Amino acid sequence: MGDQVTGREVRLARRPSGVPTQADFEIAMTTVAAPVGQVLVRNLFLSVDPYMRGRMNDAPSYVPPFQLGRVMDGGALGEVISAPAGSPLSPGQLVLHNLGWREYAVGDQQAFRVVDPIPGVRPSAFLGALGMPGLTAYIGLLDIGQLAAGESVFVSGAAGAVGGMVGQLARVHHAGRVIGSAGSEAKVEHLVRDLGFDRAFNYRDGPVVAQLAEACGDGGIDIYFDNVGGEQLEAALSCLRPQGRVAMCGAISQYNQTEAATGPRNLSLAVGKRLRLQGFLVSDHMHRQAAFRQEVAPAIADGLIRVDETVVESIENMPEAMIGMLQGANLGKMVVKV
Ligand SMILES: NC(=O)c1ccc[n+]([C@@H]2O[C@H](COP(=O)([O-])OP(=O)(O)OC[C@H]3O[C@@H](n4cnc5c(N)ncnc54)[C@H](OP(=O)(O)O)[C@@H]3O)[C@@H](O)[C@H]2O)c1
Repeated sequence: MGDQVTGREVRLARRPSGVPTQADFEIAMTTVAAPVGQVLVRNLFLSVDPYMRGRMNDAPSYVPPFQLGRVMDGGALGEVISAPAGSPLSPGQLVLHNLGWREYAVGDQQAFRVVDPIPGVRPSAFLGALGMPGLTAYIGLLDIGQLAAGESVFVSGAAGAVGGMVGQLARVHHAGRVIGSAGSEAKVEHLVRDLGFDRAFNYRDGPVVAQLAEACGDGGIDIYFDNVGGEQLEAALSCLRPQGRVAMCGAISQYNQTEAATGPRNLSLAVGKRLRLQGFLVSDHMHRQAAFRQEVAPAIADGLIRVDETVVESIENMPEAMIGMLQGANLGKMVVKV
């Protein structure tokens, strides 16, 4: 028998209907044992992501549902406590892995990927700007959206983990007008003042199509990076120029809906405008990780790209962080500091 520790974990207590509530989660104390040959990791930061909402439903998807009464999982950054002799891992190393929602993780060494700290970059960025959400922004904007210099970009969910990176990467890649939407005045101000968006609006202030048309001025948009779906997708279809692209990343306006969503009513505009709408999953593009890190890590260290994150303290508050993130409580990446 190897090392043994006691720690908390978050379990799925009940499948939510609509927006999750505290009663859908249970915090439990558990003893974690690392059998000989396995790696024991103490988690430092836990990732809170929108796709986890889908996993709380009992519905087939591209990732299997969480199991009732069992610990949930998700991205995490931890520190190796012990590793088997001969393993490339050693105590004290920082590792990224998928055994989140718990204080201690145990697994085969293949489950953990070492990350080397980058001077000037806080480690939690490996879960956000330098991690999965940042890569999602990079892939969606450059590979799927095929941004060319001078083209205009609209991104919804712009003050979130993915959206904030989309706007900043668009700027770094010499986009034309960069427009973002978000759900509060403070977020809208932040987009223009701190992240370099040219225009931003609060989607709660009135019809999105009118606000987007106003933000576009005389030109339309060439790329819509869709984090939200629904009304914002419909507005973007109206404002896209011929040959425009939609990088379909997510549809968070629909994740808590209990009834079937109505589609954009103007989808047929895609024909006359020769639009391309393409869904994508970041997990299909992991081969682009090295290029992404090579470009984005120095940009962060040099202050060209800003790392926004909202840090919630303690695993006890992870359910609250998840519920809050789904309702806009976060600016940038939502993480829990264990
Ligand atoms: N395809 C992929 O591989 C992939 C990978 C990662 C993420 N995603 C998707 O990317 C999107 C953003 O993810 P993220 O991790 O960056 O999350 P996030 O934007 O950091 O957090 C979620 C945000 O969604 C916004 N929101 C909630 N309900 C909304 C509604 N009804 N209408 C408009 N906005 C709403 C809230 O901001 P406001 O205050 O602005 O409302 C909230 O802060 C999600 O759709 C996610 O599923 C896809």
